[in-house]
Amino acid sequence: MTAIPTIELNDGNAIPQLGFGVFQIPPEETERAVRLALEAGYRHIDTAEMYGNERGVGEAIRASGLDRADLYVTSKLNNGFHRPDDARRAFDDTLAALGFDYVDLFLIHWPLPTLYDGDYVSTWKTLEDFRSDGRARSIGVSNFQPEHLERLAAECDVTPAVNQIEAHPYFVNDEVRDYDRAHGIATQAWSPLAQGEVLDDPVITGIAERVGRTPAQVVLRWHIERGDIVFPKSTTPARIRENFELFDFRLEPDDVERIAALDKGEDGRIGPHPETFAYVPA
Ligand SMILES: NC(=O)c1ccc[n+]([C@@H]2O[C@H](COP(=O)([O-])OP(=O)(O)OC[C@H]3O[C@@H](n4cnc5c(N)ncnc54)[C@H](OP(=O)(O)O)[C@@H]3O)[C@@H](O)[C@H]2O)c1
Repeated sequence: MTAIPTIELNDGNAIPQLGFGVFQIPPEETERAVRLALEAGYRHIDTAEMYGNERGVGEAIRASGLDRADLYVTSKLNNGFHRPDDARRAFDDTLAALGFDYVDLFLIHWPLPTLYDGDYVSTWKTLEDFRSDGRARSIGVSNFQPEHLERLAAECDVTPAVNQIEAHPYFVNDEVRDYDRAHGIATQAWSPLAQGEVLDDPVITGIAERVGRTPAQVVLRWHIERGDIVFPKSTTPARIRENFELFDFRLEPDDVERIAALDKGEDGRIGPHPETFAYVPA
C-alpha cells in the first residue's frame, strides 16, 4: 500500500498529509463512507461537531479492527460553544460521540470575531487545557486570518499546530498560508477540489491528460507539493480510491505554477469570509 507522508507539527506530533473529509456526508451514510476510506488505506479522518456525523466516524474505526493508535482523528468545536464552560461540555460530547478518550487534533471551527464580544482568546485557552490533560494530542484553529492568529500569539501560551482554511486553485489563499508558514503553523486546505468546481478547468484537464492522471489527482497532488494537508470528501467508492493514489507521480514545477495562476482571489472563494461569518447552528 502507498505510504502517506507525514508532516511534523510544531508540538512534535506527526499528521498524515492526506486524509478523508466527511463534511456533508449524512450521519446515516458516514459509517459506510469512512469504512470504504479505511479499506482504501486512509488513516486520517476530518470531522466536526457541526457535521453531525462524529458517531459514524467512531463506529467505522471500531468496526475496522484497526488499532486506534494507527488512526488520526480531527474534530472541531461548533460555533455555539465558544464560551469556556460550553466548550468543555462540547468537547466531552465530541469524545462521547466518537467513542474515544482522545482526539489527535481539536480545532476551533471558526473565529466568529463578530460574536462573543470578539473573544476567541478564552476559547483558545480552553483548548490549551484539553491539550494539557491529554484528551487532545494537538490543538489548532480553522478559518483564522492573520490578525486572529496575531492576537492568539500576543495573549496565549500555545501556538496553534494547524490552521485549516479554504484553499484550492481558484482561491490559493497564499496570504494566510504564508503567515502560517512563517509562524510554524501547518496549513490544512479545506475544499481542496473546490467541491468539484475546478475539475473541468482546461489547464487542469490539460495537465491531467499529459501526466495520465485524473483532474482530481492533479489538483490534490498540487496541494501535496505545496506542502499543505488535504482531506478530500467523496461518497463514491471509485473516487475515494482515486483520491488516495497521489504518491507515485509528481507535477513539474511549471505545472504547479500554472495551477496556482488560476487563482481568482476573493472571487474564487466558495465558503464564507472568516471576518464576517457568524452562523450559529440552532
Ligand atoms: N474547516 C472548515 O470550515 C471546512 C469547510 C469545508 C470543508 N472542510 C473539510 O474539508 C473536507 C473537504 O472539503 P469539501 O468536502 O467541502 O470539498 P472537496 O473535497 O473539495 O470536494 C468534494 C466534492 O468533490 C466530489 N469529488 C471528490 N472526489 C472526486 C473525484 N475524484 N472526481 C470528481 N469529483 C470528486 C465529491 O463528490 P462525491 O462525494 O459525490 O463523490 C464532492 O461533491 C470536508 O469534508 C471537511 O472535512 C472544512
